[in-house]
Amino acid sequence: MLSFNLLSTDVRGKARAGVIRTDRGEIETPIFMPVGTVGTVKGVLGPVLTDDIKAQIILGNTYHLFLRPGNDVIQKAGGLHQFMNWKRPILTDSGGFQVFSLADNRKLSEEGVTFRSHIDGGKHFFSPENVVDTQRIIGSDIMMALDECPPGDADYQYAHKSLQLTQNWLKRGHAHFKKTNPLYGKHQAWFPIVQGAGYPDLRRSAARCVTDLGAEGNAIGGLSVGEPTDLMYEMIEVTNEVLPEDKPRYLMGVGTPANILEAIDRGVDMFDCVMPTRNGRNGMLFTSEGIINIKNKKWEHDYSPVDPNGTSWVDRYYSKAYLRHLFVSRELLGPQIASIHNLAFYLWLVKTAREKIIAGNFASWKSKMVQNVAQRI
Ligand code: GUN
Repeated sequence: MLSFNLLSTDVRGKARAGVIRTDRGEIETPIFMPVGTVGTVKGVLGPVLTDDIKAQIILGNTYHLFLRPGNDVIQKAGGLHQFMNWKRPILTDSGGFQVFSLADNRKLSEEGVTFRSHIDGGKHFFSPENVVDTQRIIGSDIMMALDECPPGDADYQYAHKSLQLTQNWLKRGHAHFKKTNPLYGKHQAWFPIVQGAGYPDLRRSAARCVTDLGAEGNAIGGLSVGEPTDLMYEMIEVTNEVLPEDKPRYLMGVGTPANILEAIDRGVDMFDCVMPTRNGRNGMLFTSEGIINIKNKKWEHDYSPVDPNGTSWVDRYYSKAYLRHLFVSRELLGPQIASIHNLAFYLWLVKTAREKIIAGNFASWKSKMVQNVAQRI
């Protein structure tokens, strides 16, 4: 089984430090999960992820893996862990979110969603049941439910109707999860997702529906999709007032370092986001002092380390001037170094938040850090 032990709560607020135990090891929360959409955290070798970045769990994506390499290749490999030689936990998103953001010709029905692949135009169908089956084949330690994520500016009527559909899908997905078993002998958990756009009453009723399923962990979706940041924080608060305290809470696809700190302060335990890798590949570096655009001319003759406070070996091994040169010359190593740096920074951020929660001084550290990480340097 997947278990969650709450170790400590910040004296002032709702921030939590805990441990999730899975068949493939422990995850210390709050945690950030590097995104490895197609079975690779782009440009980062496995040993770098484990030994340098100290990733405890990574993310995979059902939509992408289903389309390529496909279920047969993954099943014959013995599951995604074997295929990519990753021994620690993996969480997979269900594919719902990607169908809505990437696929062509989507047709939504009560039954599920029909879509055309963004790769070759092939027609496919996802249902709450068959995304569980695909995630059984992938063998992820945490599987996600199929949901519909409405746009950030969805009107009430749309959000309400969409939530009805998601809630029906959650119940069907959960029933199918309980009827099926892992293929590779390791327990797999299944997390339902709270939707409800920017409407507190919808979020509350969604959170009650999710809580009633009694899953091993719960997720908050449909945020950071174009809504104002304060509304996102309000929706997290409203949702976490309802979600059970003794289960991990996962905020999907969020966000900037400041977003993560604010969400930890509101009781979130797990995070994923493409920002550290995607923005890193474009030369944006997140540091404890602020955000650097390494392509900027001002770094041309700066021979100081990439990040003197950084925890990755790339931070002290390479200089800013060298990293800038790699980006300007479009060398592969540039995006690789930036991705490693950014992931190490995100993992440092959540680890330090955890230490501060346990020490009882999270709030004051957070206020200062939220300011620092957002400034441009
Ligand atoms: N990733 C980011 N947001 C979401 C969401 O609302 N649903 C799912 N399934 N994945 C997400």
